[in-house]
Amino acid sequence: MVTKKKAIISKKRFKPITIINFKTYEEAIGDNALKLAKICDEVANEYNANIIIAVSSTDIYRISSQVSIPVYAQHIDNVEFGSHTGKVLASAVRQAGATGTLLNHSENRLRVDVLEESVILAKKYGLKTVVCANDAIVGEAVKSFKPDMVAVEPPELIGGNISVSSAKPEIVRESVKKICDHSKNIVLVGAGIKNNNDFKKSVELGASGILLASGITKAKDPKRVLINLIKDIY
Ligand code: G3P
Repeated sequence: MVTKKKAIISKKRFKPITIINFKTYEEAIGDNALKLAKICDEVANEYNANIIIAVSSTDIYRISSQVSIPVYAQHIDNVEFGSHTGKVLASAVRQAGATGTLLNHSENRLRVDVLEESVILAKKYGLKTVVCANDAIVGEAVKSFKPDMVAVEPPELIGGNISVSSAKPEIVRESVKKICDHSKNIVLVGAGIKNNNDFKKSVELGASGILLASGITKAKDPKRVLINLIKDIY
């Protein structure tokens, strides 16, 4: 017989995911990256929020050794150990403390075969994978690689002030419909997300979370903006 306590535990509410991509903004590289990562860590702990940060590979170690939230790489290359000067290895980012990686971001698109190999390597070294796609059709196609999450971001809205959830709600709906079968696949949406309304709308439309960058990295007071973004969500 399932006890009441067990039933309550199994009904644990899904917590929407917030991934903050630091990109290569000056405000989010080196010492600035560490400062921003500590703010994200503080807010995540204070609000019990599901916040992940995706940082430059050169900052993974310095950040992951000082925060408790998951730190992801922004990219890995499809190569193993060997003679690959300048490449970013899945194994190396894992050893530096990353627990996941973005792949195929619209600012770093990959050939399909390269993407598939990169997902395989990421999994081999225990990294969670977030594969980006510019629309629902591509999102559905990359699902075949079995990434942990698919993030759909219309490129034309990236870096702007109008969010995907307000400008193109149909993209969010369509992505959820095409990508989430049997609620196994996690769909994130991103581009132009700046505030609590944008986040709530994305979740109401069926997304499991958001991927954002400039709204936090370029904010004058990132802590205040981040708290405002996630309030009442967690
Ligand atoms: O990776 C997130 C990104 O592409 C969206 O950027 O600045 O529109 O939040 P932004």
